[in-house]
Amino acid sequence: MDNCNVKDFTGIILAAGEGTRMKSLTPKVLHQVCGEPMIKYILDLLQKAGVKDTIVITGYKAEELEEWLCANAKGLRTVRQTKLLGSGDAVRQARRYLAGFQGDVLVLCGDTPLIDFRSLEKMVDAHQRNNASCTLLTAVLKNPTGFGRILRGEDNKVIKIIEEQDADPYEKAIDEINVGAYCFKSSDLFSALEELTPDNKKKEYYLTDVVAALHRRKAVVESVSTESEEEALGINSRLDLARANTVINKRRQEELVAGGVTIIDPATTYLWGDIEAGTDTIIYPHTVIEGNVRIGKDCRIGPFARLRAGTVLEDGVKIGNFVEIVRAKIGAASKIKHHSYIGDTLMGRNVNVGAGAITANYDGKNKNTTVIADNAFIGVGAVLIAPVKIGKGALVGAGSVVTKGKDVAAGQIVAGVPAAVLKKKQKRQKRGH
Ligand code: UD1
Ligand code: CA
Repeated sequence: MDNCNVKDFTGIILAAGEGTRMKSLTPKVLHQVCGEPMIKYILDLLQKAGVKDTIVITGYKAEELEEWLCANAKGLRTVRQTKLLGSGDAVRQARRYLAGFQGDVLVLCGDTPLIDFRSLEKMVDAHQRNNASCTLLTAVLKNPTGFGRILRGEDNKVIKIIEEQDADPYEKAIDEINVGAYCFKSSDLFSALEELTPDNKKKEYYLTDVVAALHRRKAVVESVSTESEEEALGINSRLDLARANTVINKRRQEELVAGGVTIIDPATTYLWGDIEAGTDTIIYPHTVIEGNVRIGKDCRIGPFARLRAGTVLEDGVKIGNFVEIVRAKIGAASKIKHHSYIGDTLMGRNVNVGAGAITANYDGKNKNTTVIADNAFIGVGAVLIAPVKIGKGALVGAGSVVTKGKDVAAGQIVAGVPAAVLKKKQKRQKRGH
């Protein structure tokens, strides 16, 4: 549909709640799911949709959350909910920004990071097609406990959402639930919010009561349903957090596998970041990949490897067990196969790093860079103290310590503690390692 566009909506993210069940001093939405605060997933959704104007409602530990938002998300507005009187009261705080606004708003909860972009599109499409006052996302769950249940009238239209605490046994038996994502006509939303009362078990102003208020006015309330039970997962406890990790990890694995990557053991492979990997790469069990990581084609990673933010592996690189790599570019066909730490390093092609070799990148104040040129050979247990450069085809003997700034020239062989030149510029053969 031409006129169906998520980008014309104003986004409202509810993130003020205390998240009591998390038992934490950190604002709930800053708890991480696969290495990113859960609110980041909602912000990414809105960004992907092209939503230009987003208002985040903050409350519990507001300063901490606002600081994070300020540093990590541009162009947002935040409003504080000073008393946590419920999700309806939270939305009401956005009124000062939206008074007189005649468009639509998209209300999302900061604690439902698994919502899929396609569901948003479906919602917005139905909302505009039906010229609805409210369109909400529902799901049918095997275990609906804890969620608001959807009550439908004879014509199958949604008439009310009843919260778990307030539901009678018949209502509790309803398996269709409120996911917590809504489209509203802004003016209808804010006028219905005025009618809310906190006469419920939690003594809160429930956003979900807006549905019944709109129904009473004979306004159009629509719903779309998602087939995915996972999408509905709201993070209310640490157990939910662990479940969300599993879902996001699985989604990332599916993306890589669809692109021609083999993951031997999905259950012990953790993709906690923005990860790309080329075809025919194999990831062995117990591998952790975090942050921004680019992996080329035909690489071998693990078992028991950890690739951290800023790792770039060119094609054909082999990373073996108990190897940690961070902020490092590893040139094509290089091998780091056992027990190494490589940090802040620029490594050329065809380099062989022996078992247990380490780049000592941190001098107590700064992180320093190590450069290892093409075809160099770093012996078993060598320590390279950064900043230092190892020239093309150079050889560092087993157990040597190459001290800070004592660059090794191309073709040189050095050994000892501290490493001293054994032979100058010997023409080393390229090894067939
Ligand atoms: C809410 C819905 C429920 C739905 C479920 C989906 C309400 C009343 N109920 O229940 O129908 O099935 O989400 O996950 O909305 N918040 C504030 N200020 C407050 C209270 C809450 O900003 O004073 C925010 C929270 O940060 C959260 C959202 O509103 O992002 C929902 O609140 P929460 O307490 O998690 O509600 P649920 O019980 O999960
Ligand atoms: Ca919740």
